[in-house]
Amino acid sequence: MPLPHRSYDDEGAGPAVILLHGYPFNRSMWREQIDFLSAHGFRAIAPDLVAQTSVCDSSARNHRLKSMLLPTMKEMAQDVAALMDELRIEQAVICGLSMGAYVAFEFVYLFPSRVGTLVLAGARAQGPDEDEKQSREQQARRILTEGMAFVAGAMLPRLLAPRTLAEKPTVVSRVREMILRTDPQGAAAAQRGMAARRDHSDDLADIDAPTLIIAGREDAIRKPEDAEFIRLGLRNSHLEIIDDAGHLMNMDQPEAFNRLLLSFMGEPDPA
Ligand code: MLT
Repeated sequence: MPLPHRSYDDEGAGPAVILLHGYPFNRSMWREQIDFLSAHGFRAIAPDLVAQTSVCDSSARNHRLKSMLLPTMKEMAQDVAALMDELRIEQAVICGLSMGAYVAFEFVYLFPSRVGTLVLAGARAQGPDEDEKQSREQQARRILTEGMAFVAGAMLPRLLAPRTLAEKPTVVSRVREMILRTDPQGAAAAQRGMAARRDHSDDLADIDAPTLIIAGREDAIRKPEDAEFIRLGLRNSHLEIIDDAGHLMNMDQPEAFNRLLLSFMGEPDPA
């Protein structure tokens, strides 16, 4: 049976930066980072980690999936490695936000030599407790029976900073669209995958890659304390907190987020 495909964006030329999105979003949450990085001498690659109900645009490329539903963070990380193999990229900057950061933790755990620099945004290293596991299972079941509309209603107010919610209607509708476009089967599988994720607290001391940790001052889902926990455990790390930014800090404050990325990675030498 042929392997299924997943879409990804691949723009620019230079050192590769792999952008891993959060739940329940897709690669389009990185639009401002893809434009910025590709204009500054990087190759920006953003895969969809979870199935989408519609193809976002005809320019997207496709990558053969190794696993049908990608239910675990480990399988998502392995799929990122397979995409890098396909694109002949040995090492990259791995940048993950929230669920993407769980995948990034798994990636650096499995493939440490393939991570040049790590960027963790809206991240948490600790694994789920029993309450979190139960609530994710409830969400997964509700998604499978009701679809994504209730997820948009429940999550939207918690994803963006109050100022964005009040003043940037285009950003709010982009986030709503991303949620509604996520396939319920993929979203439920992602919830179950996050419920089964590893606790990475004890792995932090083994991570050698220079790491930038970014937190949103107003993140209602992953607090700056979660970022501080990672900073304390990761010897080669630097923490930045963005004001007027929530969980989707790269969409709340794209310029600030991009500046932090660039100053941490350094502008590549022109080829
Ligand atoms: C995300 O943005 O990826 C989710 O909020 C992650 C989570 O539910 O832990």
